[in-house]
Amino acid sequence: MLRASIVGCALLLGIPSGAKAAERTGSPTERGAYLVNTIMACGNCHTPRDADGKPVAERALSGGLAFNTPAFVATAPNITPDKDTGIGSWSDAEIKRALVQGSRPDHGRLAGVQLAAIMPANFYKALLPDDLDAIIAYLRSVKPIRNEVPDPVYKVPVKRDPYPDADAGFSKAMLADPVRRGAYLVTIGHCMECHSAWSRGVSDFKAGLGRGGRAFPLREGTPDAAPGSIAPNITSHPTAGIGAWTDAEISRAITQGVGRDGRMLKAPMAYGYYAALEAADLADIVAYLRTVPP
Ligand code: HEC
Ligand code: HEC
Repeated sequence: MLRASIVGCALLLGIPSGAKAAERTGSPTERGAYLVNTIMACGNCHTPRDADGKPVAERALSGGLAFNTPAFVATAPNITPDKDTGIGSWSDAEIKRALVQGSRPDHGRLAGVQLAAIMPANFYKALLPDDLDAIIAYLRSVKPIRNEVPDPVYKVPVKRDPYPDADAGFSKAMLADPVRRGAYLVTIGHCMECHSAWSRGVSDFKAGLGRGGRAFPLREGTPDAAPGSIAPNITSHPTAGIGAWTDAEISRAITQGVGRDGRMLKAPMAYGYYAALEAADLADIVAYLRTVPP
């Protein structure tokens, strides 16, 4: 079983070349590569890591982190096109349902069983149809790798907290507005899942949006008592949040994992993936964060 060792500095994550595909001009597969390997950072959970906690690029998306929480024990499965141990025998519609509804197909391993809430379907339901198609196209194009992960154990029924922006939905027309485009990216990047108020397994995305405070274990897969990191307040509050930070400081935190005071930020945030974000996308993310109520 693979475990993430959360080290005391930002992990330098390897990104497959080709991740930096142009959004407006690229093919669906390139757009999918861009989404999967930057803002959506699927590999941050689904790619195995080496002993230093770095993702193993040649085994990308073949199954990764084990999560051990009071609600479930689950390992991020192999999502390469391997027919037996990956999602190679799933139809496009079945992969889409896993992404936006969190449900498994009614055949194969654990047929019909809901995926644990750690798979952020409550955010991915916001995906525009073209982006969903692009993600499928890219997942079909990666190298099939044989790797079976252990079956999950569910201790309580699966429950996903509704995310207002995802439930309201987005349209292509709305994304002409930089702030809404930033909101879309922040939604599909499930940023606020970590950064919002959280208590006893429930996120408060309304009153506590972006307020921070959620603690992450030092090491996924073990119910550690001491947190490895605590997600900070990223609302526009001038002192508690990032309201007084410059655009450059916010961008540097997201893409380089460097805090305002120059300290290296810790996992589990996917800095190494966000490093390949296009400048326009990063600018829109910052524009949206500035609108999050303090
Ligand atoms: C925060 C961690 C995390 C992120 C990010 C994440 N996943 Fe998952 N995903 C999981 C876990 C854990 C499971 C298995 C849950 C279970 O077994 O109940 C899963 C399940 C899946 C499944 C079902 C596979 C199967 O064999 O059952 C697919 C498909 C999938 N993820 C695709 C993706 C894609 C594509 C992305 C990025 C767009 C992504 N995931 C992002 C953690 C994550
Ligand atoms: C898996 C959880 C997780 C996700 C997803 C996540 N973050 Fe973070 N983020 C953290 C943690 C934890 C820290 C603080 C690490 C530390 O203190 O060393 C952090 C730090 C930050 C900081 C620096 C704030 C400060 O006060 O130092 C910013 C800005 C930020 N995140 C923005 C984002 C944005 C934007 C996204 C989505 C693109 C995002 N985060 C996604 C967990 C997450």
